[in-house]
Amino acid sequence: MSSPPETLSRHSAFHFPIPLRIFAMRRAIYPGSFDPVTNGHLDVIERARKLFDEVVVAVAHNDEKQPLFSLEQRLDLLRETAGRIENVRIAKFSGLLVEFARAQNAGAVIRGLRAVSDFEFEFQMALMNRNLNAAVETIFLMPKEEYTYLSSRIVKEIARLGGNVSSFVPGCVAKALTGKFRQ
Ligand code: PNS
Repeated sequence: MSSPPETLSRHSAFHFPIPLRIFAMRRAIYPGSFDPVTNGHLDVIERARKLFDEVVVAVAHNDEKQPLFSLEQRLDLLRETAGRIENVRIAKFSGLLVEFARAQNAGAVIRGLRAVSDFEFEFQMALMNRNLNAAVETIFLMPKEEYTYLSSRIVKEIARLGGNVSSFVPGCVAKALTGKFRQ
């Protein structure tokens, strides 16, 4: 006969069974380059944090990409914009995402899905990550419609060409972009 599920009922203070798993923290990783963080990223963070006990916004340290902002600058901009949001933590990672998720005891990876053009890459990444670690589920969240055309890449291009990015990124990011392209 199989053993009964673990419950708190065996503890004297409780007289009814409560599955122990309700106390397990549901943690998700929201990984990305965040070069730099945009209002679209912040929208996804807001949505994710309502679904999970903790969301770890994880900035990738990726030698192959040539980011505009250094890892520390990207982390600082995230700390300034999302660092004080309840149940959101800012972190950095290198190496495989699924290994970072495992080390953080996270069961989910969050990715923002804006348009069909995102789908192919995201689909490939989600299935590869599942192949590497089936315990980590990828969850796609759609940002507000007004952010569907927004990306870090396009924001950098507008800023580089002297355009106004203040409605696409938080104030500190707009300032940092102006500073980069003034140099
Ligand atoms: O914001 P981005 O650039 O689209 O984020 C991509 C990122 C950093 C999430 C992705 O490149 C990644 O997970 N890198 C870590 C290395 C890894 O695990 N690669 C295998 C993914 S299939």
